[in-house]
Amino acid sequence: MPDDALEQLRWLRTPEGAAATALAAELVEQGLDVLPALARLRAQVGAGHAGPAWELARLRARARPVFGADADVLFLTADTLEQAGRPALAARRARRLRADDADSAADLGCASGTDTVALARAGASVLAVDLDPLARELTAANAEALGVADRVWVVAGDAVELVDAARGGEVAGCGTAVLDPARRAGGRRQLDPDRWSPPWATVAALLDRVPRAVVKVAPGLDHERVPHGVEAEWVSAGGSIVEALLWGRTVSTVWRRASLVRGDAVLELTADADPGPAPSGPVRGWLHEPDPAVIRSGLVSLVATDLGATLVDPTIAYLTSDGPTGSPWVSSYRVDEVLPFNLRKLKALLRTRGVGRVVVKKRGSAIEPETVARQLRGAGAGTATVVVTRVAGAPTALVCDLSDR
Ligand SMILES: C[S@@+](CC[C@H](N)C(=O)[O-])C[C@H]1O[C@@H](n2cnc3c(N)ncnc32)[C@H](O)[C@@H]1O
Repeated sequence: MPDDALEQLRWLRTPEGAAATALAAELVEQGLDVLPALARLRAQVGAGHAGPAWELARLRARARPVFGADADVLFLTADTLEQAGRPALAARRARRLRADDADSAADLGCASGTDTVALARAGASVLAVDLDPLARELTAANAEALGVADRVWVVAGDAVELVDAARGGEVAGCGTAVLDPARRAGGRRQLDPDRWSPPWATVAALLDRVPRAVVKVAPGLDHERVPHGVEAEWVSAGGSIVEALLWGRTVSTVWRRASLVRGDAVLELTADADPGPAPSGPVRGWLHEPDPAVIRSGLVSLVATDLGATLVDPTIAYLTSDGPTGSPWVSSYRVDEVLPFNLRKLKALLRTRGVGRVVVKKRGSAIEPETVARQLRGAGAGTATVVVTRVAGAPTALVCDLSDR
């Protein structure tokens, strides 16, 4: 939203704003293009209001697959929607934080209030803090729209100062805290945790001073940063990491946790201490690619033990074993051919096996999978998955799941 975003948001919260947004939602639903839609809206709600109503209706439609029915009443901006976590995961975090009924919780950087609402729905009284006035207005609007305003107090504040002043296990008078630092600036990801807002120093101080806390961090966070006694959890869905969390010492129960979202269920794999690396060995009949939550949480060796598998290379997270597996923690491929990586020889082999189309996967190799897949395309009707990786240090191609059998 432009500079007068706060004023526009306040208007969108009025009965006239709600009617304009409902009209815009109908046009979005009908799939009308932006120009005719805005022309219709301008004629009905005035030039100044058409744009904000259209934008909000579009953002609600975009939010619906993840936010469900809540999306139809939420107030959002493109930025806060992009920064928002999944509400189902916010609810899961809130339930865990409140397992023994702490009654007040601080959401330190509330944005549009996903965590605030989840904490309030879990029964907490929530102090929602943000530096940004638009974020505060959005959180207040969403708490009201979702029926939890009586348990939410929205205030201006700097999380850095509040955490600096934290004493006796509490921050801003609350015994529970959620911190989800902004990890983007100017549309770009901030890879350095010291450049997050609030920065790493505040994350570390919160985990030190408020033991009933959770911090959302970047999936690529270096394990070296995880303070002693703090549980680190990586959560994946659909083959990608969707969040990484550090749990304060009161709520931490293990060293690391890998969590896999499957529909409404979440599968968990945990270790009380570093299980160390898995052993390596020669490529056998099956190749297994661990879920990214397993890899990021350092739990590959647990899965290896479970499957009777070994690593193909000590530095590469591909496992190999004699048989297939029904494990949810890996994607498995039958290995049909193993050869030193050489594009010309690989192409010749695929031709003789009647393979025309391949999917290329890689780990520990500089190749560009789409480019190599194009280069390997041929006239045959067969298909295969080609995995380019290192095996015992040597660049290797594994031809898997050949369909000519
Ligand atoms: C990643 S967003 C939070 C997203 C939210 N948890 C959700 O799921 O919708 C980070 C928020 O922290 C706020 N923020 C950044 N630095 C802050 C600080 N020092 N004090 C308070 N809020 C801050 C930003 O304005 C932004 O709204």
